[in-house]
Amino acid sequence: MISLNKVGKEFRRDRWGVKDISFTIDKGEFVVLTGPSGAGKTTLMKLLSFEQQPSTGELLLEGRANGRVKKRELPYVRRRIGVVFQDFRLLPDRTAYENVAFVLRATGAGRKGLHRRVVRALALVGLSGRGDAMPSELSGGEQQRIGLARAIVSDPFLVLADEPTGNLDDDNKREVFKILRKVAAGGTAVLVATHDLNVAREFRARTLILDKGRLVKDAPAGSESEAALAAVAPHVSRPVRTGMNV
Ligand SMILES: Nc1ncnc2c1ncn2[C@@H]1O[C@H](COP(=O)(O)OP(=O)(O)OP(=O)(O)O)[C@@H](O)[C@H]1O
Ligand SMILES: [Mg+2]
Repeated sequence: MISLNKVGKEFRRDRWGVKDISFTIDKGEFVVLTGPSGAGKTTLMKLLSFEQQPSTGELLLEGRANGRVKKRELPYVRRRIGVVFQDFRLLPDRTAYENVAFVLRATGAGRKGLHRRVVRALALVGLSGRGDAMPSELSGGEQQRIGLARAIVSDPFLVLADEPTGNLDDDNKREVFKILRKVAAGGTAVLVATHDLNVAREFRARTLILDKGRLVKDAPAGSESEAALAAVAPHVSRPVRTGMNV
């Protein structure tokens, strides 16, 4: 479980990236994080990935507190977290397969187990046949799916994706959301920061809304989030017709 209790990050005196944030995320939950530019989404993601430490409050991941984990323990905590980037960040000189496998090599996984896990991760993102391709031979959507495979291959308990669809067209956005939801259905907690509210709404996920560093809304999964999203983003409050069975 992930739990935040009055978490704040003060960058400079009285300059807070986020302030007084409290919520919990359970195993298997698929949660969207949104809000205007500068609201604190990336700041929150960096706290959740233990990249930065909170200035106030308590943030617990699987019972470990950010701020009280010893430096030498950090790699083990981070290994439990999968991160997906807006700009994919694949190694350009390695195949798709290697981009996914190298995460496991660092953990000292055995060769057979490693292969099995990479194959499974590639299958989950629908790229079983493309393991030999170099990133430059893949479309943007395919590159991000490799990014997703890399994030999940070590079986993390939490996946964090900060604007994972920022560089993709609508079809690929949906595909990424679908995969992330499938990952959550497998028992992983998934938090996606996004401006793509139209796409996010189709998935009717629980939605956390930040504004000026504060958590202003925690809308549960389902239709209730509609009103909440309309409040922060009136331009996406009209009904979405997609005809897609997502
Ligand atoms: N390292 C830093 N030092 C000082 N201020 C920072 C730092 N990082 C972020 N901030 C400030 O914290 C606030 C929140 O920024 P953050 O990047 O978390 O917003 P965001 O919601 O991710 O925005 P966007 O949608 O544009 O990505 C902003 O006012 C930003 O200027
Ligand atoms: Mg950001």
